[in-house]
Order: sequence, then structure tokens, then C-alpha cells
Amino acid sequence: DALKDFLWKRKRILLVGLGKEREFNIHFFRDKVAEIARWWRRSSADSFEIYLDNLPVSQDLGQAVAEGIHLGLYTYSFKTEDKERQKHITTVRLITKKNVAQGITKGTILSESINLTRYLVNSYSRFMTPERFAQEVLTVARACKLSCKVFTKKDIQKLGMNALLAVSEGSNKEPRFISLEYKGGGKETIVLIGKGITFDSGGIGIKTAVSMADMKTDKAGASVVLGIMKTLALLKPKLHVVGLMALTDNMPGEGAYKPGDVLTTYNGKTVEIIHTDAEGRLVLADALGYSRNYRPDLVIDLATLTGACIIALGKYHAGLFGNDKQLIDDLFVFGQQTNEKVWPLPLTDEYDEMIKSDVADVANLGGWDSYGGAITAAAFLKKFVPEKAIWAHLDIAGTAVSKEEKGVLVKGATGFG
Ligand code: BES
Ligand code: ZN
Ligand code: ZN
Repeated sequence: DALKDFLWKRKRILLVGLGKEREFNIHFFRDKVAEIARWWRRSSADSFEIYLDNLPVSQDLGQAVAEGIHLGLYTYSFKTEDKERQKHITTVRLITKKNVAQGITKGTILSESINLTRYLVNSYSRFMTPERFAQEVLTVARACKLSCKVFTKKDIQKLGMNALLAVSEGSNKEPRFISLEYKGGGKETIVLIGKGITFDSGGIGIKTAVSMADMKTDKAGASVVLGIMKTLALLKPKLHVVGLMALTDNMPGEGAYKPGDVLTTYNGKTVEIIHTDAEGRLVLADALGYSRNYRPDLVIDLATLTGACIIALGKYHAGLFGNDKQLIDDLFVFGQQTNEKVWPLPLTDEYDEMIKSDVADVANLGGWDSYGGAITAAAFLKKFVPEKAIWAHLDIAGTAVSKEEKGVLVKGATGFG
């Protein structure tokens, strides 16, 4: 009867088949909400309603609905006549007897942070320079009352972050290193680290035009770190979390670093450069080294680190590495729960052999054949993790960008992480 009442006075009704009841789950539903929202926008509605009480779940649907709407309607476009973009859904009403208010608040906070991440990832490099990125971080820090330090090129030089510095030197844009701190209490310190390559041309070891096409998104790691820090500031969990972002272009300009160069990183370890396109691990090495200043219990880095990871896992799982079995198991489960899936890859000692250098402590390439490239990259990072910290590395090269519009994903940045 409630449904009959609801249908009675509506002018346009969209009936949505949700398939088999036993296959119904919250991720599927969230994806459907995203598609429903886009359907109404395409048909020029500025508002619509969702009748919720005939769904076979006991869970709070508020969060899923809020996320479906906010993530599904996200756009990034500069088309002067974009019909989709000129249309706006301004109101969505939920018809339900359940209390969904809390879930809606949480889902809105999460998806607005994810959309901030998407905006940063999608922004093209001519605009989203390291300097501009730092401004975006400062804006969030001020609005959300997070403490923030931005290190300029001079500071980076003084600190001895020579790997980040070297990667930046082929560009006419200055690098930035940023630390952002959320002090919500809690005994343990968590450090999150993001790779922030604002454009990865490959440097002197330049990429082909085809493989360069998406490389404005090589800052997805840093972008998601900012998204997470904003979420923490708004949801206020009892945690102490530091976000570190290493931002630079990787370009082949006249000052560019070169194969054969040896760099002394922040923690004193030396690296031989074999390939200038393996730049992500270099800027992360300095950030991991720097993280020791916070005496972290847990370090997680996120990076669009290797094409090899995409070869191994495709677009629907991020590569997961770490030095602690429990942490890896937990992250695996969280990935299932959030539908941001991760898959563990091995990180045994054999791979250390592959990154040995004749002249330095470690080489930045595991071999020209690129076999096990995602793993040798992780093995490289492992050498810079502070002692005593448990650590995980997420290679999000495959999951940071979507080629298709599907459920909560739209074309372009996903906000994964
Ligand atoms: N940013 C790339 C990795 C990447 C590739 C991300 C494709 C997203 C899509 C990274 O800096 C890189 O160039 N990696 C090289 C590593 C190689 C030189 C060891 C790669 O994957 O080819
Ligand atoms: Zn590269
Ligand atoms: Zn890169």
C-alpha cells in the first residue's frame, strides 16, 4: 500500500530491475543509484525521488545512496556546450521509514572527498603544477583545520631530498613536498604517503606518445592522500595521521637527471639511476625516509607506480605489498568491504637481487625485461621504510583511472584509495 500511495501522484516513474535477490548487495545497489541519477540528469530532471523500503537489505542504505549520487554525477569537462554538464540534479528525496540521516552525512563526506581527489587527478598538468597542488592542499588545511607544512625547492634542497629534487630538475616547474597532520588522538602514528608526479613524460628515458597520454594522472597517490586527510578532518576518528605528498613533474628538460647518475636520498642511502622513468620510487624513497621523523607505527604509501602492475592485475585490483601479514589481510578485507579491491603480490628476498647496483646501495630498475616490475618496485621501496614500522604499498596504476562509465565510476579519475 505504501508503494501504491507513492506511485499514485508521480508523473514519471523509473522502474529499476535489480536482478536476483541473493546476488543483491550494497555495492551493486550503490552502482545502480549512480546509474539512476545519471538517467534522470539525461532526461533533464532537476530532482527525483527514490523509494527505498522494498529492498532486501537491513543495512543502512543512506550512505550507499549518497555515494551513488555524488560519485555518479561527478563530471570533469571543459566542453563549451556540454549538455550533461549544463543539467543539474539539485534535490534527491528518499522515501523510507528507516532513519538514513547519519548514513547520508557519512556518504556525502566520503564522496565529496573522493570527488576532490578525482578533480586533482583529472586536472591537466599545465594547470595543476606542484605549486598549484600545494595551494589546493593549503585550502583544505585551512578549511578543515589541519596543520600543514609546504616545503619549496629550497627547503627540499636543504633537507637533502635529493631524489625528489633530481626528478624535478628536467622541468621548469618547482617541486613541492607537503606534510599534512590530523591530530585526533590515539596512541599510534599512521603515515600516509602519496606519489605526486604532476606529469610523467619518462624524463630523458622518454615514453612513447601513446604511453604518455594518461600521465597527468600520475599524481593519483598524492591526490588520494589529500582526500583521505580531508575525510579524517570531517569524520574525526580518534587517530593520529600524517599525510606526506611528494610533488614534481618528470620532464626531459636541459637540467634533467640522467641514467648513470647516483643520488643520495634523504636517509643517506644511495641510488643508481638506470631508468629515469622509474621516478615514482625515487620521490617515495625520500618521503619514506622523511616519515621516520614521525616515528610511525604504520606507513601506507599509494602510487601509480608501475605499468607491470596493470599487466599483472588489470584494472579492477590494486597491487598490495607489505611487511606484515595481518596488515595485508586487513587491507584485503577493507578492499572487499569498500569495493576498492586490492590483491596481495609476493615480496620475498629473491627480488632484492634484481635491484642490486654495482656502484650504489640500490638501483632504480629491476631489469630491462620488466619481469616482476611491480614487485621489484615494491622491493625498492621496502629499503626506505622506517625500522619498526609496519608498512603497506598500494600500486594503484591500474585502478586510479577508469576508461568506462560504470556505476559510481565515470570516465577518468576514480578516486581509488
Ligand atoms: N607512472 C608510471 C607507471 C604507470 C604506467 C602508471 C601506466 C599508470 C599507467 C611509472 O612512473 C613508470 O613509468 N613506470 C615504468 C617503470 C619502469 C621504467 C621500470 C613502467 O611501468 O613502465
Ligand atoms: Zn615513470
Ligand atoms: Zn610515474
